[in-house]
Amino acid sequence: MKIGVFYGSTTGNTGAAAQAIKEEFDKKQPGMVELHDVKTADLKSMEGYDLIMIGCPTWNVGELQEDWKAQFPSLPNVNFSGKKVAIFGVGDANGYINNFMDALGILGDVVVQKGGELYGFWPTDDYNFVQSEGVVDGHFVGLALDDDNESHKSRPRVNAWCQQLMAELGL
Ligand SMILES: Cc1cc2nc3c(=O)[nH]c(=O)nc-3n(C[C@H](O)[C@H](O)[C@H](O)COP(=O)(O)O)c2cc1C
Repeated sequence: MKIGVFYGSTTGNTGAAAQAIKEEFDKKQPGMVELHDVKTADLKSMEGYDLIMIGCPTWNVGELQEDWKAQFPSLPNVNFSGKKVAIFGVGDANGYINNFMDALGILGDVVVQKGGELYGFWPTDDYNFVQSEGVVDGHFVGLALDDDNESHKSRPRVNAWCQQLMAELGL
């Protein structure tokens, strides 16, 4: 299985998460994961992967990170039909209690509208927030990380999510 991780990151936290995800999957099969910073990536290249991972922090109160924002108009041009997609995000539950992880939902909506199938839904129990566009039916639509308040939990969360994904995908 070929996995492409497409991430945007302004202060480096989502980039670090992308790297950690690659390390976890490399333990299963080295070289399985290729990382792409959306600052320079061509989103059409997503179509060349069996599993597409999308990483985006929420910025500016409920908005996409700047590089994802710039690329967002071309996201609907990607043919997600029959594609497996997993989303991860980074946010700040204390600072943005009403917009925690909104980017997960903004991106997940387009993926689903364009025929993609989302994997890696994640429980909300371990987080303190009021409202999130990233929650559907009581679950985040992807992995939620909070490096501002709970950085010590990020690596264990990444590892658990990767194990969950591998099980969901039969890897
Ligand atoms: C001005 C500003 C606005 C932010 N808005 C949100 C927000 O609406 N929701 C959220 O969950 N996090 C928000 N954050 C927190 C960032 O998502 C968090 O710091 C994240 O780790 C940044 O990821 P990056 O290092 O990959 O850019 C905001 C941070 C800043 C500085």
